[in-house]
Formats: sequence, C-alpha cells, structure tokens
Amino acid sequence: MAICGRKEDRLKAASEQIGPNTLYKVCDVRDFDAVSAMMIALEDEMGGLTGLVNNAAGNFLSLAEDLSPNAFSSVVDIVLKGTFHCTREFGRLQMAAGRKGSCILNIVTTYTETGSAFVLPSACAKAGVYALTNSLAVEWAPYGIRLNAIAPGPFPTEGAWSRL
Ligand code: HXC
Repeated sequence: MAICGRKEDRLKAASEQIGPNTLYKVCDVRDFDAVSAMMIALEDEMGGLTGLVNNAAGNFLSLAEDLSPNAFSSVVDIVLKGTFHCTREFGRLQMAAGRKGSCILNIVTTYTETGSAFVLPSACAKAGVYALTNSLAVEWAPYGIRLNAIAPGPFPTEGAWSRL
C-alpha cells in the first residue's frame, strides 16, 4: 500500500500507523507531472498497481459571493483535477500492462447529487468527480478497470468540525 500527500511529516506518521510495507510519496495532486512521476515510480516499486483511492480534498465554509477566483480554483484543482490526474495516470498504466480487474474508488460527499449551500467549490467539484466516475465506468469497462464512488458523510473529527 502507498499513500500520498503534500506534507512529509504527516505522511511518515500515517504510514507508520498503517503498518509495515506502507510506502509514502510527497505529491500535490494538483501537479500533473508530479502525479505522473509518482504513479510510474509506484508501479515499479510495488510490482504493479491494482487499486487507486481518490480521497484528496480541500474544503472550507464560505459565502459564494466572498469566494475569490483562486479560492474556487484551489478546491476544484485538488478535488476534481487531482482526481482526474491520478485516474488518468493509473488507467494508462493498467492499459499499458494489459492488466484487468483493477479498481478505482472515488470519495464523494452526501451533497454530491443535491449541491450544498456554503461549500460551493466542493459541491461543484464532487459533482464532477461523480460524473467522472460514471463516465469512465463505461468508457474503461472494456479494459477491465472498475470505478465506484462512495459518500461516507461527515466524520466528527476536530479538524472537520472546526471547518464545517
Ligand atoms: C474563503 C479561503 C478560505 C476560507 C482559503 N481561502 N481558505 N477563502 N474562506 N476559509 C482562499 C485563499 O484566500 C486563497 O485565495 C485560496 O483560497 C487558496 O488558499 P491557500 O491557503 O493559499 O491555498 P492552499 O495552501 O492550496 O490550501 C487550500 C486548501 C486549504 C487545501 C483548500 O484550505 C486547506 O489546507 N484546508 C485544510 C484541508 C481541508 O480542507 N480538509 C478538508 C477536506 S475534506 P486568494 O484569492 O486569497 O489567493 C472535506 C470533505 C467535506 O472537507 C465533506 C463534508 C460532508
């Protein structure tokens, strides 16, 4: 198993908690070239990737009329474009290897299909991830790549509750 994120200290602590043989890579999913390099390296180091969980997200409560263009982009770039970057590179590796039966799991939210006030960038981005999931579940079915999305709902952690 391997995890990725922007901050090495947090990755190191998390990989130790998960257990032995957990790899980590410092990678911002907004950076397509960094994602590509990470996927190629992990394909080699792990002897072939067979699963991908797109969980990276950013979110904050804000009135829509107060959002700057960069605030909107930050969340959409992480949630939607980050999911696309990882999914594209993972899918291409599966196709190149002729490997069938691999899985992609995308984490969405309970407001993906309804929208939600005060979290506009997240609601838009997660709706996009849902559309990506449904689209590629069909387009990549001939390659034996399965895509699913789940909406776990809120977890009452200190970080989540201070923001939401
Ligand atoms: C309005 C905000 C803001 C806020 C940031 N911005 N926080 N605008 N309200 N609370 C604006 C900034 O002013 C800036 O715009 C732009 O967003 C980018 O902010 P930065 O901090 O410079 O960017 P970055 O370092 O990339 O961080 C963005 C972020 C960050 C990742 C979204 O907020 C963050 O680290 N959040 C903590 C992680 C997180 O969000 N975890 C929860 C995700 S999961 P300007 O114009 O000033 O440059 C989740 C699922 C919810 O929330 C599901 C619920 C059911």
